[in-house]
Amino acid sequence: MKILVINGPNLNMLGIREPGIYGKNTFADLLQLLADTAKAENLEVEQYQSNHEGDLVDKIQSAYGKVDGIVINPAAYTHTSVAILDALKAVSIPAVEVHISDVDAREPFRQISYAGMACVKTIKGHGLEGYREAILYLKERYGNRKCGM
Ligand code: DQA
Repeated sequence: MKILVINGPNLNMLGIREPGIYGKNTFADLLQLLADTAKAENLEVEQYQSNHEGDLVDKIQSAYGKVDGIVINPAAYTHTSVAILDALKAVSIPAVEVHISDVDAREPFRQISYAGMACVKTIKGHGLEGYREAILYLKERYGNRKCGM
């Protein structure tokens, strides 16, 4: 099974940006967690991060027919991007939305998620562990799926 993990803007600043909200773990720690999870679960996990909305759309499109599941934290684009929602719908790959912080307990504008409307599950407020949970969920629910089926 191949899983694509997509991270949106400013997540490359983890550990530096607002540690009171996002924690002290760095983006490198997140990459290590993904690599450890891939190894432990015998999965292929690719990570992609971009600060640019169109690049995130391109990456989702490029997953069509090649990836069995998507874990996506669109970061700020969660709350604004119909383009990312439409891209997830277009490729129709099972996707889990992850937020490191508990967006429901924050500003009202963070409580709208466009991307989440195309996702089978949302995990929020579990820190970096949320990514592992999302991968395990996809494995458990879609582990027998082959690309394009
Ligand atoms: C975030 C929450 C978003 O509201 C915010 O813009 C982010 C990160 C999270 O992981 O908690 O950049 O997606």
